[in-house]
Amino acid sequence: MEATAIILAAGEGTRMKSSHAKVAHKILGKPMINWVVDATLAAGCPHIIVVVGSHADEVRAIIDASYQDAAATIECVEQTERLGTGHAVKVALEASGIVEGPVVVLNGDLPLIQPETIEHFAATVATGETAAAALSMLPPDPFGYGRIVLDDTGSLVEIVEQKDCTPEQAAIQECNAGCYAFDGAQLAAHIGDITNDNAQGEYYLPDMLAILREAGQHVTSFCCDDYRDALGVNSRTQLAELTAIARGRINEALMAEGVTFIDPSLAWIGPDCTVGRDTVIWPLTFMDGTCTIGEGCEVGPNTRLTNVTCGNNSSLNETVAIDVVIENEVTCGPRAYLRPGTHLLDRAHVGTHVEIKKSTIGEGSKVPHLSYIGDTTMGSGVNIGAGSITCNYDGVHKNPTTIGDNTFIGSNTMMVAPVNIGSNAVTGAGGTITKDVPDGALALERTDQRIIAGYTERKRARQ
Ligand code: UD1
Ligand code: CA
Repeated sequence: MEATAIILAAGEGTRMKSSHAKVAHKILGKPMINWVVDATLAAGCPHIIVVVGSHADEVRAIIDASYQDAAATIECVEQTERLGTGHAVKVALEASGIVEGPVVVLNGDLPLIQPETIEHFAATVATGETAAAALSMLPPDPFGYGRIVLDDTGSLVEIVEQKDCTPEQAAIQECNAGCYAFDGAQLAAHIGDITNDNAQGEYYLPDMLAILREAGQHVTSFCCDDYRDALGVNSRTQLAELTAIARGRINEALMAEGVTFIDPSLAWIGPDCTVGRDTVIWPLTFMDGTCTIGEGCEVGPNTRLTNVTCGNNSSLNETVAIDVVIENEVTCGPRAYLRPGTHLLDRAHVGTHVEIKKSTIGEGSKVPHLSYIGDTTMGSGVNIGAGSITCNYDGVHKNPTTIGDNTFIGSNTMMVAPVNIGSNAVTGAGGTITKDVPDGALALERTDQRIIAGYTERKRARQ
């Protein structure tokens, strides 16, 4: 597929009432602009131009961070003045020097557009018979969208914006979706013909269809089978509506592949996450970024995972995890916090009110209650007693702790890093361990206990 894609993302997004770019707002953890860029990449567009303007730096930073591997394909072009969608395309054409070939133009606030639609659009103009095609839809409420005006034969005459509609035109149900395909030569030849003589004083890209038609070119529109693919986001309400649609589609697809949802309306799984069969998703589960969850797991309730890889038959109950790798048959929570760089090996257990950062918990090792483990490499079969923590931070540096296989850390042990505790070792409850503990040793760090006999009786007598 040889079409160039132009994605319009320079608008002010006034109706969002936000201090961020509209296209930076996320749907299921992923910025709206990335949904559109991903659709064009999936459609196979070899060259993608993103027009940035309002909050240009923020949008550029998102693109740069998200598409390092596709940097040669994606280019940002700045529209310094926002004079309308027609002007934005003019800026993109001038910056990129496009003079021919199919060009697909997409609004940046069209996150649920399908790659197949983009391919179909590009193919329509690729033959040279059609100069322009616009995607249309039949939404339940057309208010706010441009209306598709057809002639008696059903061919497209023009697109009229909501604010420019006569009452008759406002009654038209078929709306412009903001996805177009153009023959590049015709687009370049006529982009300068768009005027701003309209209710908003803007250069409207949809006017291009009537201009090309009047120039004797063939123009057309295709109505989307499912209007939900073509909804735009102008407000927080629409952002929530599209989030619900995307959530429903993703959860349906996962259920079709053998994932159980206790309630699919109460789980938010991002588009770049995979979940294996026979995994059960409990309510209030959120998965963002790139998560890969294996088979037969239990996830949730009250769980938020970001960039988590998890093997099979693991249970993540009331767990928050970011940039974490979890292997098989691991149990976490309730109330576990797994921070970046955590690696839980097979059958590890991280229990309640436990925080782990940048640490490896070995096979079958347990951190069951009220612990903080940071910058630690732990062997297999270790048991960490309740309330034990690694004191990994001396106020300046983060220091490492190592704990060997089958070691038993007594409750409320403070492991003052850097420190190495050997294998098959034991620390006595309440110890503050500042020196290395050899293999097989008991480390006791405790003052002798004093007994003051008859104390309570004497105290009461004094009162
Ligand atoms: C636009 C269409 C409307 C269509 C609707 C579909 C126009 C004039 N109208 O209206 O027919 O029904 O989308 O959702 O195109 N942008 C720029 N530069 C600008 C102005 C806008 O890059 O100068 C970008 C915006 O960031 C946005 C997109 O273009 O991603 C569409 O702009 P928006 O203001 O949202 O247009 P709508 O009023 O929704
Ligand atoms: Ca819009």
